[in-house]
Amino acid sequence: MRAMTESKMSMPAAAAPIPNDLDSFWLPFTPNRAFKRAPRLVARAKDMHYYTPEGRAVLDGTAGLWCTNAGHNRDPIVAAIQAQAAELDYAPAFQFAHPKSFELASRVAALAPGDLNRVFFCNSGSEAVDTALKIALAYHNVRGEGTRTRLIGRERGYHGVGFGGISVGGIVANRKLFGTLLAGVDHLPATYSREHQAFTKGEPDWGAHLADELERIVALHDASTVAAVIVEPMAGSTGVLPPPKGYLQKLRTICDRHGILLIFDEVITGFGRLGYAFAAERYGVIPDFITFAKGITSGAVPMGGVIARDGIYETFMRGPEHVPELFHGYTYSAHPLACAAGLATLDLYRDEDLFERAKALEPVWADMAMTLKGLPGVLDIRTLGLTAGIDLASRPGAPGLRGYEAMERAFRDESIMIRIAGDTIELMPPLIISEAQIGEIFDKVGRVIKAGA
Ligand SMILES: Cc1ncc(COP(=O)(O)O)c(C=O)c1O
Repeated sequence: MRAMTESKMSMPAAAAPIPNDLDSFWLPFTPNRAFKRAPRLVARAKDMHYYTPEGRAVLDGTAGLWCTNAGHNRDPIVAAIQAQAAELDYAPAFQFAHPKSFELASRVAALAPGDLNRVFFCNSGSEAVDTALKIALAYHNVRGEGTRTRLIGRERGYHGVGFGGISVGGIVANRKLFGTLLAGVDHLPATYSREHQAFTKGEPDWGAHLADELERIVALHDASTVAAVIVEPMAGSTGVLPPPKGYLQKLRTICDRHGILLIFDEVITGFGRLGYAFAAERYGVIPDFITFAKGITSGAVPMGGVIARDGIYETFMRGPEHVPELFHGYTYSAHPLACAAGLATLDLYRDEDLFERAKALEPVWADMAMTLKGLPGVLDIRTLGLTAGIDLASRPGAPGLRGYEAMERAFRDESIMIRIAGDTIELMPPLIISEAQIGEIFDKVGRVIKAGA
């Protein structure tokens, strides 16, 4: 224990000096000791850039953390949050509501394809995933098919960090220290094969047959025990793995055949990342649920949610009318600040045509990404929408070190924020990016890769 704890204990709380140091904050998904030895701090942001406390501009190659799709500190979003804070700070969403929650739900439903019209709000992607899984289980129960309890995720899937999310997720490090997780979960194989897919722009030709694994899993457990399948349309957090052509459509067909619900986790693919409001639209597949978060407020206020098909919502609308139909919700579901930010964000997406912009930029982005092919240690480059994954060869005996060094070097020497998943560099800029800035990103990343060879 550090010395401070002792003096803290012997002094009345009010009189104890409060150190302004790096000790107390336990950073998430960060090597804390290394960070605190050499912190990477940002103090403000505008549009495509962060600024360090010293004022150095850092190009944002990652839309924050896949979320600031409209760019940073956009005036209409800032103004909406400020006005909302002054007008209504908080309103419960249990038994009461405020007008903007309905307005935002309608706007989100209008963006979603087909009969995905019912929106349940929460505060993060993890909560959105656990909410969708719970509604899926409850739906089968309400319909009298309570034997359908199994959930099927996918290897290399990321669905946040709740117990539901890590259970259906397929990242070993996120699972192995946390006990037995949810019972009755199975996993589809990941859709990536370097041998068959290396250096593909967009959806790879190879891999649709991997959806047939769902038939095998269903045969193993029997369809009467399977509640839902959850996948990211494009796996993001494990290195940008675009879906093979026809894969998602196949999953839909197999789910339909067996009465299994299909959940698309669109926490990162939602709100323009792949050139459409949702990836479901890009692939012409209507899942039973879409989870969203991040881009709904362009990252400015935490918010997440689940969009369910009409029939799912209607199935719950039974029983005595004074009793809640679903025993689930969060104190901050549809928080007024988040709703105000969400409405202003959706206005910006519409007024600046940002989803179309992402679609139009996709070929430019993909071409520029592929210019890094041939650099030392580059094993693969994948692109989809405004995302890219660049696999680097690991340093012998030290997986993840090369990626970590690249992220460090990028921030300090090249003034660009990049993201890493092990030794894979991930890029996903705000959708307001210019062609010149796309060039700048890949120039900088190219220099980073060369310097780390
Ligand atoms: C597909 C997906 N689902 C869920 C989450 C979890 O979101 P959050 O960190 O807001 O809980 C993420 C986060 O990156 C994600 O990429």
